[in-house]
Amino acid sequence: MAEFRLPKNSRVKKGKKHAPQDGTNLKTVKIYRYDPESGENPRYDHYVIDLDKCGPMVLDAIIKIKNEIDPTLTFRRSCREGICGSCAMNMDGKNGLACTSAIEDYSGTLTIHPLPHMEVVKDLVGDFTHFYAQYASIQPWLKSESPEPSGAERKQAPEDRAKLDGLYECILCACCSTSCPSYWWNSDRFLGPAILLQAYRWLADSRDEATGERLDQLEDPYRLYRCHTIMNCANACPKGLNPAKAIAETKKMIAERSA
Ligand code: SF4
Ligand code: SF4
Ligand code: FES
Repeated sequence: MAEFRLPKNSRVKKGKKHAPQDGTNLKTVKIYRYDPESGENPRYDHYVIDLDKCGPMVLDAIIKIKNEIDPTLTFRRSCREGICGSCAMNMDGKNGLACTSAIEDYSGTLTIHPLPHMEVVKDLVGDFTHFYAQYASIQPWLKSESPEPSGAERKQAPEDRAKLDGLYECILCACCSTSCPSYWWNSDRFLGPAILLQAYRWLADSRDEATGERLDQLEDPYRLYRCHTIMNCANACPKGLNPAKAIAETKKMIAERSA
């Protein structure tokens, strides 16, 4: 599999210009195409679609292209309402969710790539294997030695529950991690903003009793400290979350426990 790198895509060749659709409200969409099994280089295909017969979102345009022009185009999507995170891709140089990104916000030709710096499975589908392995490494579940209350849930005060706001909403779309320069160059060892936000979600949970163990696991020059507060992550998050803040809070917890 080849890795798509946004700043250096000179390996991408010119591809097909598909026959334009009829209509007066036309939009050109340029899409990165790559099938590792074909043995061919990546290419850009151009499609011209009639926006008068298309839904308003980028995902609508991609589905229209697949249904009406080119059934070989490959992408992920499920919920089409910003919940599942599967339609994350790079549109005109910015990561986001295709289903919540309006076509009218992109002037001229709309260029679509897979998420940057991920291995490409096919076309717009990135390989999340490493990302999910990193997620598993932070043990994203409640860890507690205290016995479960019989027949009842573990209680949490409203003010403690509020500490999870801005964290629990993460849909693991990877828009943040794949826009982070530190993650581009060190994703083998740096956990990246998405996974670090998830790690902090458990550190911030009043019911979790593994704080020391979790901080021990994160206290590492690469896993946590490769974040240089560049803030691309917060700008990229389609859910309005701030992974950089969660990372800063984690660093603060480590500093305070060793003070
Ligand atoms: S703030 Fe940290 S995690 Fe976020 S983009 Fe910058 S280096 Fe990456
Ligand atoms: S923090 Fe935002 S951009 Fe990052 S994975 Fe979660 S929802 Fe996606
Ligand atoms: S299709 Fe689920 S977030 Fe876009």
